[in-house]
Amino acid sequence: MAELLGVEAVPVESRAFPDGESYIRLTRNIHDKEAIVIQSTYPPQDRHLVQLFLIIDAARDQGAESITVVVPYLAYARQDKRFREGEALSAKTIMSLIEASGATRLITFDIHQQSTLKHFHIPSTSLSAMPAVAQYFAKQDLERPIVIAPDRGALDKAEIVAEELKADHDFLDKRRDVISGKVTTAEKRMDVQGRDVIIVDDIIVTGSSVANAASIASRQGAHCIFVACTHALLQEGALQKLLKAGVKSVVGTNCVEGEFSQISVASLIADAVRR
Ligand code: R5P
Repeated sequence: MAELLGVEAVPVESRAFPDGESYIRLTRNIHDKEAIVIQSTYPPQDRHLVQLFLIIDAARDQGAESITVVVPYLAYARQDKRFREGEALSAKTIMSLIEASGATRLITFDIHQQSTLKHFHIPSTSLSAMPAVAQYFAKQDLERPIVIAPDRGALDKAEIVAEELKADHDFLDKRRDVISGKVTTAEKRMDVQGRDVIIVDDIIVTGSSVANAASIASRQGAHCIFVACTHALLQEGALQKLLKAGVKSVVGTNCVEGEFSQISVASLIADAVRR
């Protein structure tokens, strides 16, 4: 990333103390420098978040002139409202802590709700990884592709990918029970017969949202069903659920490093940092 930006890289020494607490050390002095901290907070979220707070605070203590914080996957952002009385508003808490640590600017990707960024008082932006997703699929040999959003919230993502691919798009209507977490998707006729379907979403956790969409597309005669998301956090059993629903492959971005992170958002980060 430093090479892409043409800036100096400062390795961060990190380990855990014997009692499990995080140890962080910046290996060079960044006094008076414009620091760019890049740390995603995918699982283990709490460990990655504490590391992030410590890195930002260490940079501030050294006298960094500014601290741009890039958190490709911002943990806890989905708890952006109190669904039940007494619940912690986790998105607000995490954002307050990032800011209190010393961040002067924040960049993330495909946050669940743009409006959640209102909890920051520093300049903040949520980039879309969908242009990178579209580039990935543009290199595949697809049969009359159609891009499907598993719910209305993902419609903007489907639109971006479809536009880039000059393909059609459609969306489904999904509901999630606040208490049980059960996901139901209304059956709807879509023009998928004999076509390759790309289902796009911001995040996959249990896989239920995308599996429901895939089952509907499969029942309606889709040719191949591909799944792409920004944050592939698939829990145990999620991949099996998707494959059972007829999905051929799942790809994610390197906002979440792991077995699905085949799409790089590095150039999108570089562009945003330079702006
Ligand atoms: C919520 O609406 C999000 O956009 C995702 O669709 C959802 O969080 C995915 O979660 P899961 O994979 O557990 O259905």
